[in-house]
Amino acid sequence: MSEIRLSSEKRLRLFSGRGYPELADSVAAELGIPLTPTSAYDFANGEIFVRFEESVRGCDAFVIQSHAAPVNKQIMEQLIMVDALKRASAKRITVVAPFYGYARQDKKHRGREPISARLMADLFKTAGADRLMVVDLHTSQIQGFFDGPVDHLFALPLLANYVGSKVDRTRLTIVSPDSGRVRVAERWSDLLGGCPIAFIHKTRDPRIPNEAITGRVVGDVTGQTCVVIDDMIDTAGTITKAVDALIEAGAKEVIVAATHAVFSGPAAERLRNSKVSEVVITDTLPISEESKFSNLTVLPIAPLIARAIREVFEDGSVTSLFDGMS
Ligand code: R5P
Repeated sequence: MSEIRLSSEKRLRLFSGRGYPELADSVAAELGIPLTPTSAYDFANGEIFVRFEESVRGCDAFVIQSHAAPVNKQIMEQLIMVDALKRASAKRITVVAPFYGYARQDKKHRGREPISARLMADLFKTAGADRLMVVDLHTSQIQGFFDGPVDHLFALPLLANYVGSKVDRTRLTIVSPDSGRVRVAERWSDLLGGCPIAFIHKTRDPRIPNEAITGRVVGDVTGQTCVVIDDMIDTAGTITKAVDALIEAGAKEVIVAATHAVFSGPAAERLRNSKVSEVVITDTLPISEESKFSNLTVLPIAPLIARAIREVFEDGSVTSLFDGMS
């Protein structure tokens, strides 16, 4: 033989942290490949150790970890996994963070505050990530914090198609829970045939986390089925206050649709006790049994993530997954 030949075949490998393995399993099932066997454990003092049990040299690695509580641990584990992949010569490393932690801290409201969403991007870059894949960032401009490609996936078509199949579109109003999400409400409206939009004039004291003071409803919602949209439900303060304001303003019923069910502290209790007709979310984050309630609908996000991973691996188009959305 007068030459050495290299196979140019690309190899996709999936890796999962311990934060939410059920989601990684679903993505793997959609792609029809197993997760790469991985050992991970915590030292007595909380430090994390990770090792992959098979060679990862030259692979196209996708490291799945949603930043569920305890958020800092999930992030640190994902960083360590990326570092291990880099040092083991993975060819390309994509951080798949369906829920990207710290996204709410994307700007300084006052002096001497951090921009933690930017710090997160820097940490992933330093660890060795070549690209990020995320679902519904708190604000789109966070994409610019990472120096590399960011695949920003939208749950909007999934949520809007479900909601659209259940409601009378002639009596539908899309409601943004604050002025910052009006553009997203417009996208919902476009997908659902141009229904009217309204928004809640919300004020917030930046010194108090998770504390929103809901103001007035801007727009006519009398007799309407209102769909309140948000990127996340954390303590459910924002959303339940919005529901109250809409019912008070004459809405016939209120549906809530949000991508990330953070469901901290009093969230489930607040939603159970509120006048909301249905809460529609995706499973970008794990939902404990105690946090479930009768009018909660959970839509699976794994098919979208799997399709996006396939597009990235095959040098296809992630944008094509959202054709028709402006
Ligand atoms: C705020 O800007 C976010 O989009 C959410 O509305 C907020 O973080 C939800 O938090 P909570 O459920 O605790 O009100």
